Amino acid sequence: MNPSTHKPEPCALVIFGATGNLARNKLLPALYQLERAAQFAPNTRILGFGRRDWSDEDWRREVREGLQQRLGDQLEATCLERFLERLRFLQGDLREPTAYEQLRKRLMEADFPENRIFYLSLSPDYYGTVADQLAQQGLNLQEKGWARLVVEKPFGFDLESALVLEKRLHRHFAEEQIYRIDHYLGKSTVQNVLVFRFANLILEPLWNRNYIDHVQISHSEAQGIEGRAGFYDGVGALRDMIQSHLLQMLTLVAMEPPPCLDAEALRDEKVKVLRSIRPIARQAVHAQALRAQYRAGAGKAGYLEESGVAPNSTTETYAALKLYIDNWRWRNVPFYLRTGKRLAETRSLISIRFKHPPQQLFRHTAIEQLQPNWILIHIQPNECLRIELQTKQPGLEMRTQTESLDAKSCTLGPSRIDAYEALILDVIEGDRSLFLRADEVRWAWKVVDPVLKVWVTERDFIHTYPAGSWGPSESTRLFDREDQDWRNGLER
Ligand code: BG6
Repeated sequence: MNPSTHKPEPCALVIFGATGNLARNKLLPALYQLERAAQFAPNTRILGFGRRDWSDEDWRREVREGLQQRLGDQLEATCLERFLERLRFLQGDLREPTAYEQLRKRLMEADFPENRIFYLSLSPDYYGTVADQLAQQGLNLQEKGWARLVVEKPFGFDLESALVLEKRLHRHFAEEQIYRIDHYLGKSTVQNVLVFRFANLILEPLWNRNYIDHVQISHSEAQGIEGRAGFYDGVGALRDMIQSHLLQMLTLVAMEPPPCLDAEALRDEKVKVLRSIRPIARQAVHAQALRAQYRAGAGKAGYLEESGVAPNSTTETYAALKLYIDNWRWRNVPFYLRTGKRLAETRSLISIRFKHPPQQLFRHTAIEQLQPNWILIHIQPNECLRIELQTKQPGLEMRTQTESLDAKSCTLGPSRIDAYEALILDVIEGDRSLFLRADEVRWAWKVVDPVLKVWVTERDFIHTYPAGSWGPSESTRLFDREDQDWRNGLER
């Protein structure tokens, strides 16, 4: 979000969990793209920290192969060499204090800049230990250069554990040093929600309960849990996607314009939205939330057959939630959030449905049912912004048709740049606007906590849906009215 174009400062980026999935699939390709975009200072270094007994050269070889697999022809030879040149590796066990001593010594070498980023690409169980150990070595201090800690979601397992984690990190790192990543905020179309809303005057008068019927925020995935049972089973879709990514998208759709784009102003407005969400009463949980699990279908195994999943697991792989935001702009406009694995397609879409015009002017014409207007913000796989309007069909009869006004980006393929490039650059530049503040995380947990509390007591039943479908038919029970239904994609 930082509008400046100055060159980032040199820094040492330490990746804990350097040989894990996230580092391999997301972080290293993103770091390579930043190299390609000439976004690193010449002496910036990337230090992988992991348990393997690797030399710098071993890690470079591994990273080279990983990038070749992921980026293929996109790799440019000279740029790749320049990038690999920055990489260093330190072998160590996260639980061993001596490993952090080694880390400090390595970082003191002349080769490394004094600004430091510690990226915890690890199981959250380790966040507290790593923060404590870094502090033991004084690596949290900002005497000569800055020190920043990057943590990935999940930030806790529920409100209570999130508070414990927050306290533990704050023991050694000031809030200004902590960068909590929600990678959805790095996606360019998600940021486009802000531009679309606040750079276009024509939308603002319509963006409220007088004109908007409801909002849907939907993320579907065709893939299953991809061997992540160890993380996913017991966590489930509500925690994994809704508490974080979908609620973040909701805040951007619903927030008031901030006074400026600085980190605190933006995050203050997002927090106001989260605080205004009507708490879900225990007796309303079934009316406002639905969970389900995929069973076998379309040639794919069911969740319970996935390796590593407990045979009687009631972890939800699908969750849908209806929320109301009790403020002047949104009172009584339902926001429907839904996500699921092994659904028919992979896509993320924000769909805003407008109300019908108040007058039924066309009642006595051939028009049977007037379709409402929609604004569709398609986040992935490709970016698209669409407005659907009604126009008259050519011909003698009075009939309407839906016309789609599409942004030019709709015809482009999926973007080569993922979300992490922008976010890593923001950490280097010290811009926290797209990172979650501690209170934001707390309020997001408060939204879903009542649902989690009820679900945890209902361990003997969960709805199911066939893999490859659009989810359980029961999910339509969340809708306030019969004329509301899920919008699965740009086309109906
Ligand atoms: C992650 C979740 O945060 O986001 C995954 O843990 C999910 O379960 C992923 O698949 C979706 O992200 P993206 O960028 O692929 O849409």
